[in-house]
Amino acid sequence: MKEVDDLEKLAAQIRHHEARYRAGHAEIPDAAFDDLVEQYAVLAEATGVDPRTRLDAKPGADHTEGFATVEHRVPMLSLEKLSPAKDESMLAQLQGWFGRRRKDLSLAEDADMLVLVEPKIDGISVSLLYEGGRLVRAVTRGDGRRGDDVTKQVLAAGAVPSRLKLSDGSYELRGELYWPREAFERHNARLRESGQEPIANPRNGTAGMVKRKDPSGLGDVGITAFLYSVAWANGVKFPRSQFEILQALADAGAPVYLDRVARALAPEEALAFCDSYESKRAELPFEIDGMVIKIDDTGKWSQLGGTGHHPHWGIAYKFPPERKATTLLQIWVSVGKSGKLTPVAELSPVQLAGTTVSRASLHNFVELQRKDARAGDKVLVEKAGDIIPQVVGVLVEERPSGTVAFARPTVCPSCSAPVLSEDIFLYCPNPGCPAQLRERLVHFASRRALDIEGMGDAVVEQLVGKLRLSAPHEIFSLTVKQVEQLDRMGRKSAENLVRACEGAKARGLARVLYGLAIRHVGETLATDLAEHFGNADALLSFARQYAAGNPAAVERVAPQKGSGAIAGLAKKSSDSIFFELSSEPVGRVFAGLAAAGVKLDAGARAMIRIEGIADKTFVLTGTLPTLSRDEAGDLIRAAGGKVTGSVSKKTDFVVLGEEAGNKLEKAQQLGVRVIDEAGLRELLKSD
Ligand code: IVH
Repeated sequence: MKEVDDLEKLAAQIRHHEARYRAGHAEIPDAAFDDLVEQYAVLAEATGVDPRTRLDAKPGADHTEGFATVEHRVPMLSLEKLSPAKDESMLAQLQGWFGRRRKDLSLAEDADMLVLVEPKIDGISVSLLYEGGRLVRAVTRGDGRRGDDVTKQVLAAGAVPSRLKLSDGSYELRGELYWPREAFERHNARLRESGQEPIANPRNGTAGMVKRKDPSGLGDVGITAFLYSVAWANGVKFPRSQFEILQALADAGAPVYLDRVARALAPEEALAFCDSYESKRAELPFEIDGMVIKIDDTGKWSQLGGTGHHPHWGIAYKFPPERKATTLLQIWVSVGKSGKLTPVAELSPVQLAGTTVSRASLHNFVELQRKDARAGDKVLVEKAGDIIPQVVGVLVEERPSGTVAFARPTVCPSCSAPVLSEDIFLYCPNPGCPAQLRERLVHFASRRALDIEGMGDAVVEQLVGKLRLSAPHEIFSLTVKQVEQLDRMGRKSAENLVRACEGAKARGLARVLYGLAIRHVGETLATDLAEHFGNADALLSFARQYAAGNPAAVERVAPQKGSGAIAGLAKKSSDSIFFELSSEPVGRVFAGLAAAGVKLDAGARAMIRIEGIADKTFVLTGTLPTLSRDEAGDLIRAAGGKVTGSVSKKTDFVVLGEEAGNKLEKAQQLGVRVIDEAGLRELLKSD
């Protein structure tokens, strides 16, 4: 879950910085941006994110393992957007769109063109198949072509009527599932009362609820829907006007919001209605992120066509991100795992786009200096990508007297070591720094590093605070007796944690390297370094030679010379990496790891080809009885096999667990062998 959160945050940051860059107001240097993208790619790869859902993939892909996928008879596309971030005014953009559509419809340049303007509710799209008036299938948008079957969930939630008073033929309706503010707040209040984390916002909450494998209890949460179109119909006729279609749906008992739409004949009129909704946005019983303007004559829709991404019959009007003024209470400096210092604004809590915001990023000290935000100031806060709160401006004219500019730290706030600057960033260089240590230990134990179950933030906090752990290798000397003394730790969990540490010793050099959070060393580079050098001794002795300026070593990483993984590393990165690896503290950690019996060669997890697995392609689906998907994948790869995400003619085996999706069906169609975990274990033994 944490990784998923992190991934979302990274995605939002990337989108935000892309937009700032495009608008000519880059907030961070290119290298820092590349760094974010690299972190995103590594985490997306690591958490096994469906490639279709990645930032670089089509928007909207949302497949969840365990849900059957269904092909949409009519694709679920997106809408083109009018955006306040563009240089042209919203009116000019909309006039342009009207002009193009009039031309497509052979209308005069200034002819009236009837459009319907509707609110754009911020939920998740759904396609609903009704047969004989009964809801028979509900499917998410997915990648637009195929989505997940969520019929059980939608019915259990009572989000849409299971029957409509329109019982002829069959038809597919499209709409948005959403969580009204009040029901959402009620649910969050219940979560808080029972000591659980509240859900960040209604939209994510809806997505999570709809993807609950077990739909029991969904009826109580209050998720609902509003419907806005008919995708296709057979054996039943709908009117040829968007407004009349909505009326027909309302008459049939479908949730449509006739009283919230308006007809308009010209761009100015349409825009005025959009603007009127922007001002009442905060008081609506649900969240909207814009408005949708549609040509009312649906009979013309097919003539208008569109691109593979959006139809030409409609356009979305995006509201500017919600922005609020609040008081900046204080600025504090957080220390990341590689020592990076980031200024953070502590705010007087403010409701923003569905959540209470009391903290916001100030990016870096250069940016902070530019904004000159000071404790006591009224600042404007906005959510980048509607997720991460940012301070976007200071109301200097309201500045109270006696404020002082924030002084760039010269020492680390956690350990007082003098800070170093690199580009626009500041770093704490002390590897023993307690704040860094906490972050590093959490990272060291994280799933893609040493994957130590049970070693989350709360435990690490105590390991550093109470047990005075000061370096990653020390976790391997923890005893059950020590761990047992920590808060919320029973004997059994203590034993489990110590056992988990023991098990983590075999993960191999690449994961150790990644886990040590060496600056510039992401997961891919960690693997490359491990494979290139083979073991920690070779790597460290190379690093020492590099740091000492030995020309043979330096040349090996020169971009135009040498070969293998490290050739081509930028000079700046290699300096940083090898200087750090040659440093005394890192040397001590490696010595400690070796003494604890941690495997420090690439071969620890290296491939030992097993006949029957080597060169074969596997697809894992569903939940296996004892192995996690990562473990099963690692075992297959370690035996020379390949693991891919979808079943094709090239797949040799599908490993089937419980609650598998449609991959079984696909495997059967293609005649691919299907085995279970026991079958996989048999293969792994057969050498
Ligand atoms: S019409 C081709 N009308 O906004 C898609 N969409 O990209 C046509 N949405 O996720 C969609 N309210 O689910 C339409 N009144 C409305 C809408 C609406 C919300 C969502 C839709 C999609 C996105 C459009």
